[in-house]
Formats: sequence, structure tokens, C-alpha cells
Amino acid sequence: MPEKTVERQANSSFGPSRRFCVAPMMDWTTSHYRYLARQLSRHALLYTEMVTTGALIHGDTARFLRHHPAEYPLALQLGGSNPQELAHCAALAEQYGFDEVNLNVGCPSDRVQNNMIGACLMAHPDKVAEGVRAMVAATSLPVTVKHRIGINGRESWEDLCEFIEKVSEAGCQTFIVHARIAVLEGLSPKENRDIPPLKYDWVYHLKARYPHLEIIINGGIRTFDECRDHLEHTDGVMLGREAYHNPWLLAGVDAEFFGQPGPAQSRHDVLRAVLPFIQDELDRGVYLSHISRHLMGLFHGQPGGRQFRRYLSENAHRPGSGIEVIEQAMARVPEPSEASILQAITPA
Ligand SMILES: Cc1cc2nc3c(=O)[nH]c(=O)nc-3n(C[C@H](O)[C@H](O)[C@H](O)COP(=O)(O)O)c2cc1C
Repeated sequence: MPEKTVERQANSSFGPSRRFCVAPMMDWTTSHYRYLARQLSRHALLYTEMVTTGALIHGDTARFLRHHPAEYPLALQLGGSNPQELAHCAALAEQYGFDEVNLNVGCPSDRVQNNMIGACLMAHPDKVAEGVRAMVAATSLPVTVKHRIGINGRESWEDLCEFIEKVSEAGCQTFIVHARIAVLEGLSPKENRDIPPLKYDWVYHLKARYPHLEIIINGGIRTFDECRDHLEHTDGVMLGREAYHNPWLLAGVDAEFFGQPGPAQSRHDVLRAVLPFIQDELDRGVYLSHISRHLMGLFHGQPGGRQFRRYLSENAHRPGSGIEVIEQAMARVPEPSEASILQAITPA
């Protein structure tokens, strides 16, 4: 269990600041990605991939909850609907040092629907409320819910308000709203992230109707300009794919959204800062390719970025590959001057 070396960012009754969040993404927001993200922003709230209550209770709990203390502030996302199991896992989240426990009510995958996990729960607001109530009773951490604006067949404004009201009465004060419905039959999870149209105004209306609740907006957000617009109407923004494919975006977050200087000087420095962590991971038997795939986006759009990615893809999977592969890949990217670095991290 990691030692909590970073103070909790408790700046409101809602717990850590959620002004800028990085979304939970299965296989993407692993501990390796999160460690990288934390070299770029101290304040962005990071979310784990979803872990099901079944996996935590019946599987290798310590492995599923493993994270580095540098990753705080960090939220654990749970998938599940059984109140006793959710309560047990919420208590585990606190025991392991997480800053928040979040319930997934947005994932449209068939696999999870069969187990009453994810977006299908939007049709069962009482069930979600029961789960949230049990979690709130089991932990002092903030309990939050990430959901859609609806699901096919239950997509009216009244349905959404019923969901918010029942779940907030159960003790959830923070709703992270992916601003599109989920289509539970006929669309893959990937299609469900692009096809139903985004309706940001619904999320704005939620904030206007329930001003006492914290409303975070998610879905299709890519630039700081877009974030600033959303922050006029909501309490925070959550970015997923853009933060993964272009992690350098996070280098401007602390200055732009938290009024603090960010920790990152240059992409090269960020990568150098991650090397000791990568070495520790290699020493405990993790394959280099499992770590390096999360570094691919760091030189996105930069001269030499393609060579960096190619070198990693061609070499990181070779048996016995070590830290030198990362160093060799980095050597393929010209190191910029200090003046151009400053320009790159100063937000527009
Ligand atoms: C590869 C991938 C995995 C995802 N896994 C999860 C997950 O485990 N839990 C969850 O709530 N959402 C998950 N999502 C959805 C994102 O959290 C987010 O809601 C969605 O991508 C929309 O935000 P974006 O347009 O900024 O990417 C996933 C998205 C992607 C791309």
C-alpha cells in the first residue's frame, strides 16, 4: 500500500479539485500512463481504469489497486451494482490511499451489461442510489458517479433529472457527465464514444438546475479554448482521448486551470524524469512494451516524433529490452532550445 506523501487537495466539500480531470480509460490510464501524466501536471485529477467489484473482491486486490504515490490526486473507478460489494470496495479505496471513489454508469459494453455494470444502470436509478448510499456509508472519501445523459429508450430530460435527483439524495454530490446517450444495442463501445451526438447544453442545464451539485463535463473536448468555454457553465472538464494521445497538453494545465506553475520543462525532461520509475518497473518483471506504449504520444506533432514512435514499436517488445531502448528512441528527437520550450508551455 503506497504511503500518502502528497497532501490531499481538499479545497472544498467536494474533495480534490475536479476543474481538470483525465478520464478513466481501460488499458490506457494504467499506472504507467498516470505516472507520466503526473510529470506534466500536479493538479489534474487522474482516474484509474475501471475495476469491477468482482475482480477486487475475488481477484488479486493488491495488484488491481497498485499505484505509485506520485499519482495523487487519484480517483479509483469501480464497476458494479451490488451495494454490499460496492461498499466493501469503497472502503478498500480509502484504505489504499485513493482520493475519491467513482462509480461507472457510462460504459456501454455488452460484457458489463450482463453483469449490471455501466451504462445499463441508467435505467435503474434506484439501484444506483442504493449502491451510492452503501458506498457513502462505508467511506469518508467523496463518492462520485460518471454517467451518460441517457441510454436508448430512456433518454428524456425527465429521465436524466430523475437519475440525478435519486442519486444525489443518496449522497453523491459530483456527477461527471459524458454528454451523449449510450446506445446499448447495435453500437460497439468505440462507436458509442463518437456516434450519438454530443449535447453539451444538457450538461449546462443540469448545472443550472442543480447549482448545489458539482457537474463535470466530458466528451469530445480537445483544446484549452473548449475547456474555458465549458468552465463558463460547469465546474470542471474531463478529457479522455486527447489527454492520452497528446499528453503534452497536460503541461499547460496547472498554469491555465490552477494558477500554479507546471512541473514540466520539456518533453525530454519529462521522459528523463520517468526513467527511474520505468527501471523500477522493469526490475519487478514488467515488460518494457507494456510501459512504452503509454509514452507513444509524448512527442505527438513534434519533429522526430514519428521516429521516436517507430523506434519504440520496433524495439520495445524484443526480449530483454531495457531502459536503453527509451534512451535511443529519445535520441531520435531533436532537443528544443529553452526559448521554444517556454513558448510551448505558456498557454495561449
Ligand atoms: C480506450 C478507452 C477506454 C475507456 N474506458 C473507460 C472506463 O474504464 N470507464 C469509463 O467510465 N469510461 C471509459 N472510457 C470513456 C472515457 O472515460 C470518456 O468518457 C470518453 O472517451 C469520452 O471522452 P473523450 O471524448 O474526452 O475521450 C474509455 C474510453 C476509451 C477511449
